[in-house]
Amino acid sequence: MTAEELLAQADAAAAHAYAPYSRYHVGAAVLARDGRVFVGANVENAAYPLGICAEQSTIGKAAGEGLRPGDVEAIAITASPCGGCRQWLHEWRFERVHFRRADGTVATYAADDLLPDTWDLPS
Ligand code: THU
Repeated sequence: MTAEELLAQADAAAAHAYAPYSRYHVGAAVLARDGRVFVGANVENAAYPLGICAEQSTIGKAAGEGLRPGDVEAIAITASPCGGCRQWLHEWRFERVHFRRADGTVATYAADDLLPDTWDLPS
């Protein structure tokens, strides 16, 4: 699946965002190694810090279906991932992270390039 195809699924998912406070709709689509695609969107809460980003709700869906870090290949996001989500992307070891920049161009990175020298639990 191309970056553009995955991003099109993220765009469609953004329509399902629950974002009554920011009115900023974000969608994400995760491509699993077995070919399945999981989509999600941001879900806000009246207690603002409790809202979750599109990346988190989408990865949560995949995790709920039994996927684990390393089972995922790529993620497409309709906006640049925030710092906290970059830690999620690192945890899930995405090979490719595609997102749309503010100027409309599409960026592609390996998850670890979005958060160099990332913190991890000491083994
Ligand atoms: N948001 C995401 O869904 N993903 C990000 O990586 C950046 C921010 C959401 C959170 C909140 O619902 C809205 O965008 C405005 O910050």
